[in-house]
Amino acid sequence: MTNKEKNRVAIVGAQWGDEGKGKVVDLYSLSADLIVRFQGGNNAGHTLVVGGKKTVLHLIPSGVLHKGKTCLIANGVVFDPKVFFEETTALEEAKVFQTTASDSIKVSERAHVILPYHRDLDRLREEHASKQKAQIGTTVRGIGPAYEDKVSRRGIQVIDLIHTESLKEKLARAIEEKNNLFKNFYNHPEIDLEATYHYCLEMGKRLKPFVADVRQTLELAIQGGKKVLFEGAQGTLLDIDHGTYPYVTSSNTIIGGALTGCGVGPRAVSEVIGICKAYTTRVGKGPFPTEIEESDPQTAKKIRDIGAEYGATTGRPRRVGWLDLVALKYAKELSGLTGIALMKADVLDGMETIQICTSYSLNGEKRNTPPALASELEKVVPVYQNLSGWPKYDSTKIKSKSDLPKQLIDFIELIEKFIEVPVVLLSIGPDRAQTLEIKNPF
Ligand code: GDP
Ligand code: IMO
Ligand code: MG
Repeated sequence: MTNKEKNRVAIVGAQWGDEGKGKVVDLYSLSADLIVRFQGGNNAGHTLVVGGKKTVLHLIPSGVLHKGKTCLIANGVVFDPKVFFEETTALEEAKVFQTTASDSIKVSERAHVILPYHRDLDRLREEHASKQKAQIGTTVRGIGPAYEDKVSRRGIQVIDLIHTESLKEKLARAIEEKNNLFKNFYNHPEIDLEATYHYCLEMGKRLKPFVADVRQTLELAIQGGKKVLFEGAQGTLLDIDHGTYPYVTSSNTIIGGALTGCGVGPRAVSEVIGICKAYTTRVGKGPFPTEIEESDPQTAKKIRDIGAEYGATTGRPRRVGWLDLVALKYAKELSGLTGIALMKADVLDGMETIQICTSYSLNGEKRNTPPALASELEKVVPVYQNLSGWPKYDSTKIKSKSDLPKQLIDFIELIEKFIEVPVVLLSIGPDRAQTLEIKNPF
């Protein structure tokens, strides 16, 4: 591998999302020239804490707080212009940009647009499903309906908001079927074509300075040896193909999503860092083998309170459980992880014993990989290894590897041995400064 090829790092969530991707992207952005979001949309909530000041980003790449970096939103993202302008306005007010936001942020012409009717459809579906107790527990941001329109070739792309010659016809086609659904199935007012058209025109006008051929920008940067950081959203177990279907999001959250979501080949990425908490959380419905809400509600509450485990996008309390190495090994295989960023180890401070799941038992049989059927995954019994905690130790004070208590070293080594991937970063607090970088992937 030449030095040029070593310059490109991807971040993927290795669990069910909210692993701390925002913090790691913010940190690694110090070394990067370009930061690119490759999938998902504003269902993401990525939290950055710098010097005690908290910023939550939903759509704009988490490298934006570093001046002089280029932030790209690639074709694989579903893009809500309304949310985008809310976010850029807040960042402008916080004086994040040196000049204007459009100098730092570029949006792909090919990204698909989330329109108000996508949000409505997401909500109507969830409300309808909840009557049958079959909801997914989506973020109701219109993500699924926007990806559906993309795949069914009824989507509106960013470029359609700029070149508006055939926008009205495209919208009419996109709306026709939905109006039938809205009126006759959901008993909901129909979508107003004129109003949607004018909304699109207005968004297009404002968006123009931000729109670019992001694929080409990225390609030229790669050819020029620039350092690139690929920022994933959600997590491996929420992947549309390999996650806990149907309780998943609507995009590929694994490394494959970075390649199609940006339009680059496999050699464009040299390191893939899986972001993983020292325990597990999940928001929304679906199987979660190591969940402890029912079996040990006291520990679940303790972790949720200390870890502030409430959704950064919807504010929902996150479900809590122990670290699941079966799921983590699966994540390693799906993305070819080359390193793990182990997050929130400090949340386990004070615990006498820590449990780690090393296999599943399904109908008395040992399983080393998650079964495909959600109803089977629901039934698996996690097999745990008990480890001693570091109850009298304040891990937020860790400054170097030599400060690590033996029990935390054992915990890290068990993970590394099990999945055969090194832990390259240990996070012991939300702040950028509360990090032990073992090996920087750049
Ligand atoms: P993301 O979606 O993967 O970016 O993660 P979120 O931002 O949704 O959730 C992670 C939460 O944990 C945020 O509130 C972070 O500020 C916080 N956080 C990240 N790393 C650490 C850590 O090492 N310790 C603690 N206590 N909090 C952390
Ligand atoms: P970040 O990037 C955690 C979950 C939702 C729901 C499912 C489908 O912050 O890690 P969607 O709105 O995508 O159709 O919802 O996916 N989900 C997330 N869970 N973190 C996220 O993003 C999530 N984005 C979506 O809770 O279960
Ligand atoms: Mg999040």
